[in-house]
Amino acid sequence: MILREALQSATQTLRRAGIADASVEAELLLGHILGMSKTQLYTEPERSLTSVETEHLCHLVRRRLDHEPAAYILGHCEFYGIDFFIDCHTFISRPETELLVEKAVELAHRISQSGKRITIADVGTGCGAIAISLALALPQAKIYATDISASALQVAGMNCRHHAVNSKVELLQGNLLEPLPQPVDMIVANLPYIKSCEFKDLSPEIINFEPTVALAGGEDGLDKIQQMLEQMPGKLNYGGCFLLEIGQGQGRMVTSLIKSYFPQASIELISDLGGIERVVKVGL
Ligand SMILES: C[S@@+](CC[C@H](N)C(=O)[O-])C[C@H]1O[C@@H](n2cnc3c(N)ncnc32)[C@H](O)[C@@H]1O
Repeated sequence: MILREALQSATQTLRRAGIADASVEAELLLGHILGMSKTQLYTEPERSLTSVETEHLCHLVRRRLDHEPAAYILGHCEFYGIDFFIDCHTFISRPETELLVEKAVELAHRISQSGKRITIADVGTGCGAIAISLALALPQAKIYATDISASALQVAGMNCRHHAVNSKVELLQGNLLEPLPQPVDMIVANLPYIKSCEFKDLSPEIINFEPTVALAGGEDGLDKIQQMLEQMPGKLNYGGCFLLEIGQGQGRMVTSLIKSYFPQASIELISDLGGIERVVKVGL
């Protein structure tokens, strides 16, 4: 088989199975096998595939037909323009979380105008996407990244070394803010926020492959956020702030939850480009 035929065949198979963006996914799988960029795939359409390459493609297409997300098949995801290793123990970082990073960078620049070396905690770091994006954007910052999952932290460690930020990002295993060795200036978190009743509506890609510990937010989706608010006293420096990603429609409930713990807090809900309230920014 030649490359053009392989691409067409994989695209058709994925499309027939109802996979959205079938052509993009076929390009990703084939590019991964051949070690070629998307452009290279189209500049060498007559290149022959060896039988091993053809068998490998069939195997990866079968995995995708079983609803395994392409990011897990490839072992990579892109976030904030940066490539991250991932595996089945880590959540696949989503583009909507880039808003949290953007807002955190803006705030950090403002805080560090005073010449202070800012300290940040990324709580529930997963593969380390938020912490490492912040470390690269804020070279002076000291970042702690916590997660309950030791396996996820191993992947975060690989990403820290790969992006040469291991001296700036300290990985800590434990429950939410508990492992922090000192109070920080800013806390950022994309914690699990899916309500128990929403699980039945999740796609097989999510429910069968992403770690439940990265998704489950309890009955109202806010269990982890509430636990973190309880732990907050003594973990945030005076005048500190925190930024949380929230699920669609959770803005009002999260705002009143925060008010119940911190009545004096200034709270801002920030919407993404789709108009969905996505980030809560809180100043204490
Ligand atoms: C939605 S994922 C987000 C991962 C990553 N921050 C991102 O945005 O791609 C939530 C993460 O929180 C972690 N987590 C869940 N419960 C936790 C807890 N009690 N303490 C620390 N981390 C927790 C999960 O292991 C998972 O890595």
